[in-house]
Amino acid sequence: MIKRPRRLRKNNNLRDLVVETKLTADDLIYPLFIKEGKDIKSEIPSLPGCYHLSPDDRLRAEAEKIVQEGIKGVLLFGIPQKRDKTGSSSRSPQGPVQKACRLLKEEFPQLYLITDVCLCGYTSHGHCGIVEEGEIKNDATLPYLTETALSHVESGADMVAPSDMMDGRVQAIREKLDEEDFYDIPIMSYAAKYASAYYGPFRDACESSPDFGDRRSHQMNPGNAREALREALLDVEEGADIIMVKPALAYLDIIYRVKQEVNIPVAAYNVSGEYSLIKNGGQAGLVSARAVLKESLLAMKRAGADLIISYHALDLAQELV
Ligand code: PBG
Ligand code: ZN
Repeated sequence: MIKRPRRLRKNNNLRDLVVETKLTADDLIYPLFIKEGKDIKSEIPSLPGCYHLSPDDRLRAEAEKIVQEGIKGVLLFGIPQKRDKTGSSSRSPQGPVQKACRLLKEEFPQLYLITDVCLCGYTSHGHCGIVEEGEIKNDATLPYLTETALSHVESGADMVAPSDMMDGRVQAIREKLDEEDFYDIPIMSYAAKYASAYYGPFRDACESSPDFGDRRSHQMNPGNAREALREALLDVEEGADIIMVKPALAYLDIIYRVKQEVNIPVAAYNVSGEYSLIKNGGQAGLVSARAVLKESLLAMKRAGADLIISYHALDLAQELV
């Protein structure tokens, strides 16, 4: 007798009833680029459809749209006017992210605010940490990261997301936040962050390309999978509340394996290069961007992602609600 799996694919209602994984607007986090200055809304050339926004009416207008479309959370990146050796505007109360947090928290209290914690957008050399003698110094960087995280939280951030890949930073940030009575603020750790060519458009957007060398002394080697599990377990031990894998599409096996290994939520970062490829592929008429996008995000979820950070979020949310 023929076995007939096709029976359950007969019509739409039935297919919906038996579907295993579905993408919803609740899964999505939308990244925002906050540029120091006034009255700025300029499209980012490397990320068509995404904008640099100043922390004023321009951000306010965008936030209104974001909330209206049913997006639950945003991830904030800052682009300062001045950069120096230690990235001081990363932790200044007048920094772009801090200003944005205060504005958003006050006017859109229901919008969940996550901030990216790293130095590369703020340092003159574009590296994620303190550079001495041509090297990125791990332990010397930690106090700057903890101060940055603390200043975000003091400005109203609901969650911090360290993306620097320094060893021990989750623990250092956890201790600092606890000390200051912010024990309720979760940490989403960029735990398995690979040294990837998919970050190109983002570095243009944040002017954060390193002026010498690369990020391979702290970001992971794309050939390694077991190391990602080690990183994830370490961050859990150090107190991370959510573990992130980044990039997403070329690392679905990592999402899958990390999900088996940890019992806290797993986030996938659908990075800038993934966004640009699909967007441009659609514009060039190569693929149906919308369909390819939904299939790709669904694959991340099927692999085990509980939440997905995506530049497509705003565009897609209403369709998914
Ligand atoms: C900062 C940071 C990067 C991204 C997020 N946080 C860039 C990098 O590590 O060079 C990449 C995001 C993207 O490509 O969408 N460390
Ligand atoms: Zn960095």
